[in-house]
Amino acid sequence: NGQENSMKLDFAEANQVINKNIYGQFAEHLGRCIYDGIWVGPDSDMANVNGYRQDVLEALKELQIPVLRWPGGCFADTYHWKDGVGPVQDRPNIENVFWGGVIEDNSFGTHEFLNLCEIIGADPYISANVGSGTVKEMVEWIEYMTADSDVPMANWRRENGREKPWDVKFLGIGNESWGCGGDMTPEYYSDLLRQYSLYARQYGKGKFERVGCGANGDDYRWTDVLMKNAGRNMDALSVHYYTIATGNWGSKSAATGFDEGLYIKGLKQGLRMDEIITKHSEMMDKYDPEKRVGMLVDEWGIWTDAEPGTNPGFLYQQNSMRDALIAATTFDIFHKHADRVQMANIAQVVNVLQAMILTEEDKMILTPTYHVFRMYAGHQDAVSIPVELSSENYSFGTDVIPAISGTASQKDGKVNVNLSNTNPHKSIKVTVDLSSGEVKKVNNGTVLTAPEFNSVNTFDDADVVSPKDFSQYKFSKNVLEVTMPPLSVVALELE
Ligand code: AHR
Repeated sequence: NGQENSMKLDFAEANQVINKNIYGQFAEHLGRCIYDGIWVGPDSDMANVNGYRQDVLEALKELQIPVLRWPGGCFADTYHWKDGVGPVQDRPNIENVFWGGVIEDNSFGTHEFLNLCEIIGADPYISANVGSGTVKEMVEWIEYMTADSDVPMANWRRENGREKPWDVKFLGIGNESWGCGGDMTPEYYSDLLRQYSLYARQYGKGKFERVGCGANGDDYRWTDVLMKNAGRNMDALSVHYYTIATGNWGSKSAATGFDEGLYIKGLKQGLRMDEIITKHSEMMDKYDPEKRVGMLVDEWGIWTDAEPGTNPGFLYQQNSMRDALIAATTFDIFHKHADRVQMANIAQVVNVLQAMILTEEDKMILTPTYHVFRMYAGHQDAVSIPVELSSENYSFGTDVIPAISGTASQKDGKVNVNLSNTNPHKSIKVTVDLSSGEVKKVNNGTVLTAPEFNSVNTFDDADVVSPKDFSQYKFSKNVLEVTMPPLSVVALELE
């Protein structure tokens, strides 16, 4: 190696806003995400605010979530919204066929979700049922949520206790329609998208964006057909990409206790996000060079084996320092593509996959990934500053990745710089060249690091991986020298 590690900021080319919605979250009726995680009901012995778990609610507020996607996921295309409104005792039970076959009692429905969004200040992103629903069902749901006039669904909403419509910003038309959302071909789905989009009419004053269901990972043909056949019928197109450390869905590997081989492979698979976005963007550019249609990475994150002893259909997994680095390096990639990527929703917010929050009865922990979201929050709606990175490699076995990743943006006179060191064995000095700007000082620094790449926070020790003040930097005119500890994510606020 022996190479100089540096990051040069190009202030002159800073003009692309990083949509705050890249820091979005996803909450599905899956395992213990909604029930137990977010919702315990108003009669619970657990501390709650109108049925929402109090500890989780506070942690969600702190997270500054710009947008929250619901009710799925695969669940969305089995969900019939009318089951989830009206007096709770009258709501029917259904079986959650995709996720563990458990009984869903519908006690968390449209009101409970949209009110939650208002409480935590997030814009709602509703996934409508295309796989097993109808146009009529979707139209009535839109009317129920957003109409202010004297129409049947708005009146029913009023009867159910909500006078004014909610402000719904995003409407997904089907989820994974190539798989659990209907097993469709892109040709068939693009016809459905045209039909559903036509009737997805706006009732309220605010407009919502209609989101077409996008591709599975590197299925670029899906994007091609959708953009060709239905590009003008949507405002955004989604894509789903999950990180599987082994690269093999059949044997994903454990979330804890993994070795260095799986550590680097996990990071490497995460970095594939760059290629996935680049190639889907190229496909979208073919039909939409103006970039009117946004790309929404509305499911992403690391997917491991479920924790031993838990229901495998609940997708409950631990969250390690590796996962924090996957989150940080993924944000660096999203920022690079801020011209096309307008939203991302990590899967999922509580107790499912790469979660922000884990709960066990009345205990709650914040995961390393939660801390990364907090450490990147300054980038929301900031102007991206292009960076030129030069990094030595970190390698293990035959796998090689850059040791350093980074990003920068500016907003309200502040410059946010984030850097990660993926090498678990050595600290690395990074020279940050600020000469194209007018930075005067460093306001503060924060670091997230851990004893091991597989370190996790547990219910007995919740602060193994938690942010600390960081001062291993030297600032002198135009240059910032940052000494990154092994395995670390650093956030610096400059002015
Ligand atoms: O996030 C878990 C599942 O992953 C979602 O329900 C589905 O859309 C995807 O396959």
